[in-house]
Order: sequence, then C-alpha cells, then structure tokens
Amino acid sequence: MKTQRVLTGITTSGTPHLGNYVGAIRPTVRASRLAEVESFYFLADYHALIKVGDPARVQRSTLEIAATWLACGLDPEKVTFYRQSDIPEIPELTWLLTCVTGKGMLNRAHAYKASVDKNTAAGEDPDAGVTAGLFMYPVLMAADILMFNAHTVPVGRDQVQHIEMARDIAASYNHLYGAHFTLPEAAIEDNVALLPGLDGRKMSKSYDNTIPLFVPRDQLRKLIMGILTDSKAPGEPKAVAGSAVYQLFQAFASPKESDEFAQAFAQGIAWGDAKQRLFERLDQEISPLRTVYEELIQDPARIEQTLQQGAAKARAIATPFTARLRQAVGLRSLDSGQTPVVATKPGKVALPSFKQYREADQRFYFKLVDAQGQLLLQSAGFDSPKAAAQSMARIRQEGLACLGELSAELSFQAAPEALEGALSQLLATDSKSPE
Ligand code: TRP
Repeated sequence: MKTQRVLTGITTSGTPHLGNYVGAIRPTVRASRLAEVESFYFLADYHALIKVGDPARVQRSTLEIAATWLACGLDPEKVTFYRQSDIPEIPELTWLLTCVTGKGMLNRAHAYKASVDKNTAAGEDPDAGVTAGLFMYPVLMAADILMFNAHTVPVGRDQVQHIEMARDIAASYNHLYGAHFTLPEAAIEDNVALLPGLDGRKMSKSYDNTIPLFVPRDQLRKLIMGILTDSKAPGEPKAVAGSAVYQLFQAFASPKESDEFAQAFAQGIAWGDAKQRLFERLDQEISPLRTVYEELIQDPARIEQTLQQGAAKARAIATPFTARLRQAVGLRSLDSGQTPVVATKPGKVALPSFKQYREADQRFYFKLVDAQGQLLLQSAGFDSPKAAAQSMARIRQEGLACLGELSAELSFQAAPEALEGALSQLLATDSKSPE
C-alpha cells in the first residue's frame, strides 16, 4: 500500500551539478524506489520564467534536467514525472489559491523581501525590478503541492518557508470551502549544503563554483584539478577537515574508502594525487550514468514522449480534482440542477478569538483562545495597549510564521497544530468579511 505522497519540483533554470546530484537527485531517486511512497517529480518550468528571460535557456535546461533524472535512474513507470506547464490545472489552481492568500503573507516571503531590502538599501523604489511573478512565487508553488495532496515535500532549507505558506494557504481554503487539501510538510535536505564547490564554498550556481554533473570525462578531470587547496607540499600531512577534495570524495565513497583517503592525507599525499583519486572515484559512479545521459540528450523526442505520458498520469488526478475544487468555490454550471436561487450563508461557526485586557500589574496583555475557550497563546505584559495591539495584529495577519520572532513577547504557546488551525481560521474569516 502506498501511504505517503512525496512531491518535489526542480526549477528549469540551469545545468545540474554535483551538488544537485548528491543533495537532491541521488537521494530522491533512491527514495522513489521505496514501496510505500508514491512520488511526483516535476520540472518547474513556470517557476523558471520568474528568473530566466531567455527562452532557449529554459528549453535547454528542461531537456538537461529531464535527461539527468532519467539517466540517474528515475523510473517513469514507478513515479509520476512531468513538466509543470503540461498541467493547465496548475495555473488554474494558482488563481483559486491566490484568492485565499493574504497579501501580507506574501510581502514577508524571503525571496521577495530580499529584493525589497536590496532596493531600499540602494535608495531605490522598494519594488524596482520586482515582477508580480516573483511576488506570486509561493502561491504557484502551493498549487504544485496541493494539486496532488502531497504529504511530504523534500526541499532545501531555503524553501521551507514556501512549504509553510502552502500549509497556510491550504488551511484557509479548507476552512472556507471544506477539507479538500492535505497540509504538506517539508522534509529538509540538509546534506545539500555540505557539498563544497571549486573554491571550497558551498557548491552553488550563484557562486559560479559548480562542477556540472555530466561534463565529458576529460573536462571533469580538469575541473577537479582546479579545486582550491592549501599550499602544503607533497609529504606534508594534510587536514581532511575543511578540505573540499576530501569532502567531495566522501560524498561518493564508502566509509571504508573515506578512511583510507583520510590516512593518505595524514601521510602527506600530494594534492595532484589526491585530486586524481577523487576524479577516479567520482567518474566510477558517474560514467555509466553519463553514457545514458548522452544517449538521451541525443533523442529529445523520446524525452518529450516520456514527459507527455507523465502529464497524462498527472492530469488523471489533476483534472477531476480541479473540477471538484471549482465546484467547491462556486464556479459551477448553471444547468446542473442544483443552482441555488439565493446565496447560501454559511451557518455561524464558533471561532477562536483574541482578547485584550489589563492585569492588576497595570500592564497590557492579550491571549488567543479557541472556540471552546481553551488557551492557545498568552502574551507577556506590554507597557501600552498599542504595543499589545500591534503584536496581536501581527499574529492575526501573519499567522504561525511570525511566532518565532515574537517569542520574547509571548509567555505561552499551544502545540503548533492547534495554533495553526485557529490562526488560519481567523485569517480566512478576516479576508472574507464583511460580506
Ligand atoms: N521552488 C523550488 C526550488 O527552487 C522548486 C519548486 C517549484 C518546488 N515548485 C515546487 C519544490 C513544489 C517543491 C515543491 O527549489
């Protein structure tokens, strides 16, 4: 029985490198072979449009990433492997979700905020050069995830906030229209950060220090020979800690091989020899995959066909689900025999509520209680009612996401699940009232 749905997307904006392979592709392909998971992997090409303005690059990257995943052993028979832009239901869902998403929440998305902060620091208009696409990024990503009711979303740390937002958006929709969406959780891939690049910093496209996964053999060797090391001479013992050469080796080798390599370091192996050993070890794993990759890249029509089959599989879920979601929000046929003549007002539901008050110590407090009067949040004392109200308003607008920052102002917090439900219920009612 498949019980867990795992889903992740790869933005088609670049060429896969060793860091992507070790941090995401290799573990993901392995995980996809587990019997109890149902996996969805897709090429996030709509997301690519947010940062790439070069059509040829988007297309080339889509081809390279698709070929890479297939060459690394992703089995399109076992998983659902598709291209985001082949699923028209995704942009459709994006709109439904946009209408239950607080703009204030998007204002606080890290990527958007970073652009605004940069502009502000440069004395420019805060939104200079910022597209609405960048601003809406988290909603599109929520649609990717919620469309397939994924339980688990493996992502790098930088994406965790987006998964939290997807949860918030799902909870708002569920509150308004019924329980349609599973609330997804991030599975953080921390080893991504561990792989160093050519200069010893984390391997990343933004540092321009990557080693592409499928460069020809001689180029791979050349790149490895160029890895930055200290200037210790042959015969001098070398430290493994902080050595990019050693860390890269370790990411590919067995613990036993790594121990032997560490011994060679202690015995003063020359850097040139160490790099040669690294190259051989890497190439041993990569070379068979490279052969398949090169075949695939020569035959884009075959990849296209695989993606089309994946899209058909994905749409077998997305099309009926979207029909249900449209129905839920009131996008309905007028001759379906169930046209309500008068708009139905939902019955009054008991809601959680914030309360503000003053204690005998003359300080100002607030608390959040659920519909049954159970305490969910309790503030510490504030000097002024205004300060208390501001803190309260922020929690009301931003939900769970801001509690970390406000923790000094709070004296009690219930379990995150209890808080999340209550806060998103309030958020959903705030954004829909008064009618
Ligand atoms: N934003 C993700 C990244 O840059 C890619 C992505 C798009 C994604 N949609 C997704 C990841 C849905 C997980 C789930 O890494």
